[in-house]
Amino acid sequence: MTNPAPINFQKGVYNHYMIKEIHEQPQTVRLELRDRLAQGVADFSDLAIDDIFTNVQKIYMVGCGTAYHAGLVGKAVIEKLVRIPVECDIASEFGYRDVPWGDKQMMIVISQSGETTDTLVALREAKANNIPILAITNVKDSTIAKEADKVIYTNAGLEISIASTKAYTSQLVVLYLLALYMARIRNSFNLEDLRTIGKELSLMGDYLEIAFEQEEKILRLAWQYQQMENAFFLGRGLDCSVAMEGALKLKETSYIHAEAYATGELKHGPIALVTEGSPVITVLTQDNIVNRSMYNIKDIQDRGGKVVAVCKANLEGHCRGVDDLILIPNTNPIVAPIVAVTPLQMFAYYMAALKGNDVDKPRNLTKSVIIE
Ligand code: AGP
Repeated sequence: MTNPAPINFQKGVYNHYMIKEIHEQPQTVRLELRDRLAQGVADFSDLAIDDIFTNVQKIYMVGCGTAYHAGLVGKAVIEKLVRIPVECDIASEFGYRDVPWGDKQMMIVISQSGETTDTLVALREAKANNIPILAITNVKDSTIAKEADKVIYTNAGLEISIASTKAYTSQLVVLYLLALYMARIRNSFNLEDLRTIGKELSLMGDYLEIAFEQEEKILRLAWQYQQMENAFFLGRGLDCSVAMEGALKLKETSYIHAEAYATGELKHGPIALVTEGSPVITVLTQDNIVNRSMYNIKDIQDRGGKVVAVCKANLEGHCRGVDDLILIPNTNPIVAPIVAVTPLQMFAYYMAALKGNDVDKPRNLTKSVIIE
């Protein structure tokens, strides 16, 4: 693994912090991996909660916005590797549930700022019910860090752009590492396969650099689509969570109405909105389900929809019929969300920049939301 350089907090050659922070991701992801992964083996023994990791039977995962989207990926990965149920909730909704608290449960709280009130309220609710809390946050000594039982600090460095990018990929990496670690100590997944996934994760900085080679193409796409007023973002499985994050980025920075849907769900209603020229952005990284998605995409094109696909290089043959293709490197599908999100971040950025928006400080938004 290349030794990551320290992060420079000046805007430098970039017009906005958002694009600077997008470009920092190979470096921040490498920093995330540096101390916690060796030869494909993840280690969180320093947290000193192996007893909880070994015995827990259910995990609640909460966060807001981008942090919630990271949680959705974490849920899928932990369920696959650790074989225990994970409920991922929007923190602001968590308090309205009558949660059946019990023994052998824990909560993972995700927050870049560590100050988001909705997330803090969910944390306090769990704490009041004697549930151990593990926080994943980017800010040292933040309120969430202080109130949680244990903290994993992400190494994304100061994130200035209100639209979160590098903090999201750092959260993803930590969640993957946690899943690998828990699976190893619980012996819930083949150890060699865990090591293979870990080794793949260790290459993530390089994969991201390859994905950035598509930047000019993404800028041209943003130019081509700059008049669009709405867009669908689609994906199946892990790709659906990535689509949700892509739609949020586009909404908050470019003010274009974007809706994310599970690809298979579109035909159950929303496809009624697809007419001649409707923009549909789809994420295709899951080898075992790409064919199924292509049937749905054909349906969309038959109704005049214009399809842009973010597609893993090895799946290019399946995606040939789409209108525009953004290729990302061929990773193991389980870790693909980390790399698949970057073209969507860039698309949102260039769209917002072309519109002349205040990219780093979009209207009506603040970096940490401290009201309920
Ligand atoms: C991300 O681009 C958003 N600005 C927003 O959704 C954010 O992720 C959310 O408010 C949660 O913030 P936190 O991670 O600081 O808790």
